[in-house]
Amino acid sequence: MKDFVFYNPTQIVFGEGKTSEIGKYLQGKKCLFLYGSGSIKRNGIYDRVVESLKKHDVKFVEKSGVKPNPVLSFVYEAIDTARKEQVDCILAVGGGSVIDTAKAVAAGFYYNGDVWDFFVDKAKITKALPIYVVLTLSATASEMNSGAVITNESTKQKFNIQAVSLFPKVSILDPTNTYTVPQNQVANGSVDAIVHLLEGYFTKSYPNTPIQDGFVETLVRTIIATTKKILENPKDYDARANFMWSATLALNGLTTAGIGNYEFPNHMMGHSLSALYDIAHGASLSIVFPAWLKYNESNISKRLASFGKAVFGKTNSKDTITAFEEYFHEIGAPIRLKEVNIDKADIDKIAENAVSLATKWGLKTYTKEVIAKILELAA
Ligand code: NZQ
Ligand code: ZN
Repeated sequence: MKDFVFYNPTQIVFGEGKTSEIGKYLQGKKCLFLYGSGSIKRNGIYDRVVESLKKHDVKFVEKSGVKPNPVLSFVYEAIDTARKEQVDCILAVGGGSVIDTAKAVAAGFYYNGDVWDFFVDKAKITKALPIYVVLTLSATASEMNSGAVITNESTKQKFNIQAVSLFPKVSILDPTNTYTVPQNQVANGSVDAIVHLLEGYFTKSYPNTPIQDGFVETLVRTIIATTKKILENPKDYDARANFMWSATLALNGLTTAGIGNYEFPNHMMGHSLSALYDIAHGASLSIVFPAWLKYNESNISKRLASFGKAVFGKTNSKDTITAFEEYFHEIGAPIRLKEVNIDKADIDKIAENAVSLATKWGLKTYTKEVIAKILELAA
């Protein structure tokens, strides 16, 4: 096992009905209450949150309208609101887009310059407002990690930030809050959580990692099984609960602790598809990931085969890649660029965009030419 530091200070409050406890954790505070386009009003989560805030005398200012693939212009607006209203914390009620927006606002609140400086490594986040979460969609694990991803609409960059101060203080994980997540978003979440687990699994530098391999294989098996159950019966509590906790564990630091260096190349390429075409994060990954596996098959064939055996009951690398494609298609996720109306002729433009994130992440082998070759396999 490689040396590691594992630190995750987020308190998870998990279970049916726990949404009504959010006010307890915010007592005595004034928060900026962020949410998306209104699903929480239609499914009753908004009412439960507001009732709890009122019960515990929590002051709050609302700001709605966070969009999927959240944007920088909204972050600027929300920082202004947070300052004007002198809030002392942020409450994010939503999925990854709302939580990531909360993190960017939390970091920008104390900073005199442009919050985008943090994304392009011009400045370091040293202080942030405390963040509280009521999760409504399982996918990103933003509820239990210190990262956030925002799109700068003018530069077409979908870039990330990371800082210890961005771990949420408390995240409420109430599986019943996800009963209304539409099927395409369930599929997106399933793909996202699986790829979070497998980026590390297939790119790690240290060979002997039985604990981490076992975590990953169990979590992927659970995600696949529960996704199918959820698509059949959206109100299957146990399936929602197991999916929810698996997605959180998929990117909270647990499965990568001890594996040495690893890379996130599929996210690097996927973020460009979202930055340029505004396609959902999960859909970007179901397109890129099989292509990346094909490109790298000869280097990782043994590992692909052992993963295939543990998860899909397959015995070789080719069949494992096919099993991924079949699974993605079965749940309704796209696996080719043309399925989301992206033309092969655009590959050069996408590769050009992706190189800037590859540079930021130090992915030296991912030149524009290499990225284009991988994307050709998704055409
Ligand atoms: O706008 P609202 O009303 O919130 O509706 C949302 C949105 O339309 C809807 N939704 C959420 N909960 C619902 C619901 N609809 C019905 N019932 C519910 N209970 O679902 C749609 C998608 O929401 P979004 O938050 O965009 O999805 P997700 O959680 O997949 O977040 C994706 C974003 O997170 C980033 C992605 O790049 C993308 O921008 N990621 C964040 C990461 C992190 N911070 O660690 C890591 C990931 O790799 C990822 O990059
Ligand atoms: Zn992801």
